[in-house]
Parts: sequence; structure tokens; C-alpha cells
Amino acid sequence: MSAKNPAHSANEASGRTALDLDHVREDLEKVRLGTRFHYFPEIDSTNTHARQLAEKGAAEGEVVIAESQSRGRGRLGRRWQSPPFVNLYLSVILRPKLPPVHVPQITLMGAVALADAAATFISQAPTIKWPNDILVNGKKLAGILTEASCDTERVNYVILGIGVNLNYRVDRMPEEIRARATSVVELTRQEVKRESFLSRLIRDLDRCYGELEEAGFAAIARQWEARFGLRGQRVRVESLDQMVLGRAQGIDEDGALLVEDDQGKLQRVVAGDVIPLEP
Ligand code: BTN
Repeated sequence: MSAKNPAHSANEASGRTALDLDHVREDLEKVRLGTRFHYFPEIDSTNTHARQLAEKGAAEGEVVIAESQSRGRGRLGRRWQSPPFVNLYLSVILRPKLPPVHVPQITLMGAVALADAAATFISQAPTIKWPNDILVNGKKLAGILTEASCDTERVNYVILGIGVNLNYRVDRMPEEIRARATSVVELTRQEVKRESFLSRLIRDLDRCYGELEEAGFAAIARQWEARFGLRGQRVRVESLDQMVLGRAQGIDEDGALLVEDDQGKLQRVVAGDVIPLEP
């Protein structure tokens, strides 16, 4: 972590305040994640940089965080809007002792932690759209991009990349996402202190990651299911090699989405995009 954030004074002068990570670090004393912040006023993608650090041996819990991203990446090759000073863009390096097949559990664990953190800042209950979109009133508040490096037997590292819309006003969003996205300021009509959200998020991640390690995925799956917003709803699930139409049921013990298709057969989906349909 930079001891004094050089972007701080310059941007205060222009009315935009950079993250005060010294404050966050103090708040996270004794928390296993967030042990070190790699801070950038601007970066291509925090996930890309976190991968490079992980390849060079960065420790579990190190976090790459940026005020803005020039090539913020979303799931399925999409772009993640990353304007400066209003949101959070971070990537957490994890080194879970899990077989590669269980990497999706980390993604779902991240979604539970992110939804829990968001719930403390807004009065509406956030829901999760499989696998890890955080929605409020059907609009996207936050998303997670998980990237992993594995060999045949074990996971080398997982990068949990998180983007959250905090003080991003809808009228500043590009036209193409305006109708589908929301932010904390839009929901509460009050700007949120980004450091407070960051601390809360790292604490919730730390707690959920600990639960996953100690109690196993069942404990996380229960919390995920409690926030799942599409149970029983008609959906279309699109992935590279399949398209499923049916009613979303929940997740299985590996975190795969279960959909009862229109022929009454239970389909298991491991990757793809879920599109809610009219009942
Ligand atoms: C999605 O919902 O499509 C996932 C969005 C993930 C965005 C975050 S922002 C920080 C990290 N760096 C990236 O390039 N992407 C993730």
C-alpha cells in the first residue's frame, strides 16, 4: 500500500477525492484479507495486474485496487465501466486449498460477501443472479469476475475481481447500461464513503472465505440460496454450447445452476448467462 496516496491532494483540489487506504488498513488490522493494497490512480484492469502479481508469488489476501480502469473487464468478454473516483474496482488474490473443480465455490462465496456488504448500505435487499451478479430491484449494482490458475490437482491462485457502483449517478452512465444498472447513491440519494464500503466488503469476504474453509460449501450455498432472486422464475440460460429454457431451481453442491427445462428435465448449467423471462 502506498503510505501517502499521491493522487489524494491533486484530486481533492479538483473536487474528487482519492481513496484513503491508510484509513482502511487501520480498520482491517487482524483481518486476513486486505493485508496489502497495490493502489493505482489508473490501470488497464485490476484483474490483469493481480494475475501478474500472483504469478510472481504475491501472497493470499493482497489486493489490487484502482480509481479507474481503461480496460475494465466483465464476464463473458464484456466491458466493465470504470470511471474515476466514484466506484470501487478491486481484485483480491486468493490461494484456496481446493481442487480445481471447486473454483466456482469461490465465485459464489464472493457473491454472498458482496451482497452482504451492499445490504449494510442500502435499505433494499440485494439479490444474486447466478452466478454472481448483485442486483437491486432487478438492476445491476455490482459484479464479480473470477479468474483462476490451476494445475491438474490444485488451484495455484484465484483472482476475485469486484466492481461496485457506489457514487456513480445513472445520468452519467453510458446509454447502453443506464436502464440496467444502479448504484448506492441512486438507491439511497446519499453519497457513500468508499473507504467504508471497502472495509465492510473485505471483512465480509474474510468471514465468508473462512466459513468456506471451515464449514465447507454447504454453509455458503445456504446463504447464496437465501439471496437467489430467480427461484421458480422462467429463464433462458445461454452458454457456449447450450441454451436452456425453463424454471430456475437453485444451485447444486458444486455451485452449478439447476434449471427445470420445459420438458420437465433437470438441467445442470456450469457456465453461461441467465436471462429472466416473463412468467
Ligand atoms: C461482471 O459482472 O461482468 C463482472 C464485472 C467485474 C468487474 C471488476 S472491476 C475490478 C476487476 N477488474 C476487472 O477488469 N474486472 C473486475
